[in-house]
Amino acid sequence: MNLPHDFRRTIIDLFNDRGREWLDNLPTIIADCERRWNLTALPPFDLTYNYVAPAVRADGTEVVLKLGVPDGALTDEMTALRLWDGHGIVQLLDCDPDRGIMLLERLTPGRPLITIEDDEEATRIFASVARQLWRPAPAVHNFDTPGSWAEGMKRLRKRFDGGTGPLQKNLVETAESLYAELLDSQSEPALIHGDLHHWNILSAGREPWLALDPKGIVGEPCYEVGAWLRNPVGAFFARPDLPRVFDRRVAILAEELGFDRQRIVGWGVAQAVLSAWWSIEDHGEGWEESMQCAEILSELLR
Ligand SMILES: Nc1ncnc2c1ncn2[C@@H]1O[C@H](COP(=O)(O)OP(=O)(O)O)[C@@H](O)[C@H]1O
Ligand SMILES: [Mg+2]
Repeated sequence: MNLPHDFRRTIIDLFNDRGREWLDNLPTIIADCERRWNLTALPPFDLTYNYVAPAVRADGTEVVLKLGVPDGALTDEMTALRLWDGHGIVQLLDCDPDRGIMLLERLTPGRPLITIEDDEEATRIFASVARQLWRPAPAVHNFDTPGSWAEGMKRLRKRFDGGTGPLQKNLVETAESLYAELLDSQSEPALIHGDLHHWNILSAGREPWLALDPKGIVGEPCYEVGAWLRNPVGAFFARPDLPRVFDRRVAILAEELGFDRQRIVGWGVAQAVLSAWWSIEDHGEGWEESMQCAEILSELLR
């Protein structure tokens, strides 16, 4: 199967031998899905962490296949999608957690929010999608939480023998104290997306914009702003007016969602540093923009 090199690399970096085996099996998995759901799979979208491809069912319905190495994260995505049942997010039509396969509603036109150039407009759209998503956390659940994710900060210290490696020491320290403070003072926990950014919100038909690709975590809704603030990685971070852009984002999020400004900034800084660590942990590189985000946002801390 002719898969992009970067995609293979990512899967092998993350899953080692299990990833290699999954990559070898992928043609069989796709053929099984085609038989099971009576569909024809089309060439995939741009691939990052999972094999995601449009497909057409025998009756002409357009759907999407999402296939990944079976693991807890993918299972949480399925469980969360089932709870959302299409409200504010793509509908899960069927799935098999043990095989790491999902059949999803196809969002059309499916233009990602990254194509909205006006950052203020995009931020307002983010806020409207986020608001639709949050719902009370299930009484019993196995979802990750902001606290379980924050354990990453301890792995960071361990990896660098108590230091901070290539990451700016003062920002890591700030993130650590923010985590201590914010985790302890969370509002009522909700089921939240956990990775709501510019490529995970698409233009759709039944709503103007819908989310997809949730982590599915249980935490206070304000936590959700973190993934928005540190994205989009890429050219955006070369903008000369970034401090002003971040200041406007924080103001819009406070206005649209009713969160305290300092909490928005605090989660933004803390999660940007954690995300920088995840880049090191998963890929050994690619942490610079998250740290740039942490630095600019930290200027807004009182
Ligand atoms: N249901 C869908 N409808 C339309 N496009 C989709 C759908 N699901 C995924 N895509 C496209 O595929 C891309 C990757 O899917 P995503 O679920 O984000 O996978 P990953 O977990 O690898 O990030 C999305 O950014 C989007 O462009
Ligand atoms: Mg995605």
